[in-house]
Amino acid sequence: MTDQDGTGPVSTGTDGAVHEAVTKGYESVYGTAPQVVWQAPGRVNVIGEHTDYNDGFMLPIALPHATRLAASLRGDGVLRLHSAQSPDSSGITELALSDLVPGSVPGWAAYPAGVVWALRDAGHDVPGADLYFDSDVPVGAGLSSSAALECAVAAAYNDLCGLGLTPTQLALLSQHAENVFVGVPCGILDQLASSCCEEGAALFVDVRSIDPAEGRTRQVPLDLAGAGLVLLVIDTQVKHAHADGAYAERRRGCEKAAAILGLPALRDLPYAGLDAALERLPDDGLRALVRHIVTEDARVEQVTALLDAGELRAIGPLLTEGHASMRDDYRISCAETDLAVDTAVAAGALGARMTGGGFGGSIIALVEKAGAEAVAAAVTSAFAVQGWTGPRAFTAVPSAGARRLE
Ligand code: GLA
Repeated sequence: MTDQDGTGPVSTGTDGAVHEAVTKGYESVYGTAPQVVWQAPGRVNVIGEHTDYNDGFMLPIALPHATRLAASLRGDGVLRLHSAQSPDSSGITELALSDLVPGSVPGWAAYPAGVVWALRDAGHDVPGADLYFDSDVPVGAGLSSSAALECAVAAAYNDLCGLGLTPTQLALLSQHAENVFVGVPCGILDQLASSCCEEGAALFVDVRSIDPAEGRTRQVPLDLAGAGLVLLVIDTQVKHAHADGAYAERRRGCEKAAAILGLPALRDLPYAGLDAALERLPDDGLRALVRHIVTEDARVEQVTALLDAGELRAIGPLLTEGHASMRDDYRISCAETDLAVDTAVAAGALGARMTGGGFGGSIIALVEKAGAEAVAAAVTSAFAVQGWTGPRAFTAVPSAGARRLE
């Protein structure tokens, strides 16, 4: 399977080569060498969608695609930002730390600026900095390009300022930045994946117990290649406009249902009690939301148990069931993701589902290595028949979370 996602020049090569390319980019913008180079990845979620803000379970992996950040501190209270992907690629966004308040920064710069604000809001008296970003995480594809930006900044500041924060704490800080500074009501899935994933593993997350020292949230070894399998990511290249409002609406619906049931969160509704609980809810869409969340939490636990047992192929049907649940109960899929999933399964995938927030973005398909090209080609043909552009397919290799490049 070839990588067809149009990744930029920094995506390939050794750490040294990437470090050199990003350092050169920084130097061409700021005229001096950076103090550090960090990277933080995008993610795909294997299973566990919209469960994070219901205090439930998720199982993401980090992608090889990452935001690279070259950074140096400044002593004059100014934050300067430059992105190699910005349409105005010669431009530098310059912000005074004293002006950083929620909602004050438009566009992509809100994510890194929000992290600096969140650090200061948490009582860390961090200075300004010169930041240079170069990312190959596809934007708008449901692969967490925003979390990659945030987590790169959080990790670089942690290093530069010697803050001693753990990857989990950096993820929480990044989520706080997105929730409050940017104003997006996301859960913790994307930031935890970008900060805490490890190479060769999926991250089982229990939102009630995210500190790895407690032993609940943990790395689950995932050797796809060793099992002769490929996890294909197929980006439909579609993002429907109403996604943000629909996300917030689903979240409010879950909170309302939990309140009616007298529960702190839907995670507290056991699978065995689902049918009885549904009868206590009005039949105005809330029942379907609850059914998705409770069955999805159960699927995360089942998939994790199968991976623990080395039964990788057996997770396929659970992935496809998860898609049906998002399509029929949570109602967050769309024609493009449904066609991609149905076509992948018909072409021999062991299982497939939309990944991420929904209303477009990417699907994942678990396929035998020998069949990967055929599955990707089948989805491409099906899209062509509809007259739709794309999709772009690549292989998801479970990769490391945020790390420093030398
Ligand atoms: C988006 C959000 C996450 C999570 C997923 C759905 O990616 O940022 O917090 O809710 O959607 O699982």
